[in-house]
Amino acid sequence: MKNSKPLSSRLNLLLFAFAMTATVSFAQTKMSVKTTEGKTTIDKHIFGHFSEHLGRCIYGGFWVDPALNVPKQDRIRMDVVDALKKIKIPNLRWPGGCFADEYHWRDGIGPREQRPARINTSWGMGTEDNSFGTHEFLELCSMLGTEPYIAGNVGSGTPQEMANWIEYLNYDGDSELAKLRKQNGHEKPFKVSFWGVGNETWGCGGEMTPEYYSDLYKRYATFCKNYPGTTLKKIVSGANSDDYNWMEVSMKNIPIWQMWGISMHYYTVVGSWQKKGSATAFGEDEYFKGIQKALHIEELIDKHSAIMDKYDPEKKVALAVDEWGIWTDAEPGTNGSFLYQQNSMRDALIAAVSLNIFTKHSDRIRMANLAQTVNVLQALILTDKEKMLLTPTYHVFDLYKVHQDAKLLPVQFESPAYSFGKESVPAVSTTVSKDANGTINITLTNVDATKKQTLQTVLEGFDWKKAEAQILTSTKYNDYNTFDQPNKVKLNKFTDFKKDGNQLSVTLPPLSIVSIQLTK
Ligand code: AHR
Repeated sequence: MKNSKPLSSRLNLLLFAFAMTATVSFAQTKMSVKTTEGKTTIDKHIFGHFSEHLGRCIYGGFWVDPALNVPKQDRIRMDVVDALKKIKIPNLRWPGGCFADEYHWRDGIGPREQRPARINTSWGMGTEDNSFGTHEFLELCSMLGTEPYIAGNVGSGTPQEMANWIEYLNYDGDSELAKLRKQNGHEKPFKVSFWGVGNETWGCGGEMTPEYYSDLYKRYATFCKNYPGTTLKKIVSGANSDDYNWMEVSMKNIPIWQMWGISMHYYTVVGSWQKKGSATAFGEDEYFKGIQKALHIEELIDKHSAIMDKYDPEKKVALAVDEWGIWTDAEPGTNGSFLYQQNSMRDALIAAVSLNIFTKHSDRIRMANLAQTVNVLQALILTDKEKMLLTPTYHVFDLYKVHQDAKLLPVQFESPAYSFGKESVPAVSTTVSKDANGTINITLTNVDATKKQTLQTVLEGFDWKKAEAQILTSTKYNDYNTFDQPNKVKLNKFTDFKKDGNQLSVTLPPLSIVSIQLTK
């Protein structure tokens, strides 16, 4: 058909279309940061970790065969310790998980050759030789410079067993249990303060109702004593994801003076619990779903926090997200009960958006623990005999360590959307904080799989002289590191930003996490 429009109007149309395309590809997101208005501190314990007697996390991960040819102290693997020291892990939760409610602490003390063999009935029915127990865990924490967070046994233990463990750990005076600790090589008390009273008591920790557990909590917590020099921070075993009734009943029944925090567990599962999906073989649909499901945690946090606010308006009690992360199918050819999964760029982005949500809610969230540190679920480190690799998720914690105990700065912006099919999620998320030296640290994430994002950020009242930046990115969301190619996804120097007065322009590539440090 002949075009009836005159040439000039067709040219105008073309020019208009060109201008529109140009506007779209150069669209800038405006951000503003109130650099003098930081009120809330981002508790360093938000960047915490979790190590369970599960698969190859403890045995084969942290604690290795004496014959393994890697640097070790006792049987603790030092390459793993050194890597974790670098990212300053603030706390380490142990011994579970489900395992915590079948663990009897006396099995893991004293001469190793006399320790009883038990069965790890939670994770694959393997033999638990108890060579890694209380002293070994606390030695590991001291090497890491991290705070221990012990989950006590409610499900199959007694209040007396729990009370005795705490006395053994923390009492400095003259008692049989303190003497036993000394005989076992630790003269001074360990001063453990983070204390979980059971784990997932709604499930593997005893299949309890919230009414029953909250009564039990009060009973057990009453006998968890503060010995001179150590005040316990007792943590209630809280809700499974959106179980708001669990939160309501717990907050109603347990007096706030009797708890430091209450936990919440949420895992990002892309498919169903039966068929979760592969850790590495997936397309954009499963990538998008992964991000979308990870972001769902914000709704859970909002709703749980609203319930907590009713009973604790001054926000004295912490919400501790003490298990989170992506849970995929186990790697083909591995023992399914060991939960060994690979870790891709998708996992890194999930970690970054989750941490941005935790920091944003740091008035209530004062602890979180990624599951789990080595060789299990969303691990920071994978090992294969002598070999070790750092996963993309490890690098996120490296970028985010600057926010530990820094002041959260308010940020205003509207994120562009990342759409897939008919659905969309915010493409950009951020954490901005000011540390004790006055340095401003900005971490920015772009989850869009194909589009870059240009950001124009005004830092009100802050002029900086020096800027340094790093980036974690990869061309595909399912790129990952292998023992043969351990540095496919790694941190690099980032230069795509510039200063204009107190404005910072940054261009984030697709699938990227950027950290910028601004110093006066
Ligand atoms: O992290 C793996 C398991 O997930 C933990 O043992 C349990 O608490 C949760 O169900």
